[in-house]
Amino acid sequence: MQADLQGKVAIVTGGAVRVGKAITLALAEAGCNVFIHYGRSCAAAAQTRAEAERCGVEVETYGADLSDASAVLGVIPAVLNRFDRVDILVNSAAVFPNEGLMDTDIDSWEQQFAINLRAPFFLCQAFEKTLGDGAQGDIVNVLDARIFRPAGDHLAYRLTKSGLLTMTESLAQALAPRIRVNAVALGAILPPPGEDEAALDRIARERVPLRRSGSVEIVAANVLHLLTQPFLTGVTIRLDGGEFL
Ligand SMILES: NC(=O)c1ccc[n+]([C@@H]2O[C@H](COP(=O)([O-])OP(=O)(O)OC[C@H]3O[C@@H](n4cnc5c(N)ncnc54)[C@H](OP(=O)(O)O)[C@@H]3O)[C@@H](O)[C@H]2O)c1
Repeated sequence: MQADLQGKVAIVTGGAVRVGKAITLALAEAGCNVFIHYGRSCAAAAQTRAEAERCGVEVETYGADLSDASAVLGVIPAVLNRFDRVDILVNSAAVFPNEGLMDTDIDSWEQQFAINLRAPFFLCQAFEKTLGDGAQGDIVNVLDARIFRPAGDHLAYRLTKSGLLTMTESLAQALAPRIRVNAVALGAILPPPGEDEAALDRIARERVPLRRSGSVEIVAANVLHLLTQPFLTGVTIRLDGGEFL
């Protein structure tokens, strides 16, 4: 348990699987009640819920397709409906298609911007609106460290995550002093969906100065760090082993 997080209510988008799941469980271990948002991973959300409940906190699961604007607008009201308050918003859900300039079509562009940038934007807006008078809140956005070294791969995705960095820093100013807004920018943490650990090991050996990959536990620990350090806002912690320096 972490005294400063105990009893708070946190929502984690994409909180059922992989990176989002690790953040969900770390928040539960710190004593937060957790609202697990998921897209398609309904069964995984139930499993993550059961694991989080073992920490003795209250947990809810909620499915919403973040490419659907009206579904996005329903998320924060659903948290309030269940818990009557919301203190922490973690924007982790995203899509990561392997596309460059020439093979991105309009539908894919729209999908990536809707899920990776529009949804966090309107979740932050709803979060700010719902904070009670005098209440303090925290937002943590999950970025990708590749945005710090421009290149043509995953181009639309990069633009969404660059937008999320700008949003992090802009909202840190706009929402102070009530809400702190920070981010983690991930490098080689997990293999991309569909690839195996060997692919991640190769990246670590060939590209990461520290010659190792990260882990979801490292991500979760740094999210907790941002949430428990009251003088941090507008900060992005790079979790990339130096890969994108
Ligand atoms: N893994 C890495 O090494 C790495 C590296 C750099 C950055 N990141 C960032 O870290 C975050 C998590 O990465 P990850 O690898 O754990 O993600 P992932 O395995 O690709 O999973 C994507 C997550 O986003 C959710 N999601 C996708 N489309 C959605 C939609 N239309 N509506 C609702 N939810 C949707 C998924 O929920 P459902 O499964 O429930 O549909 C899932 O939780 C992302 O922001 C990613 O950009 C990860």
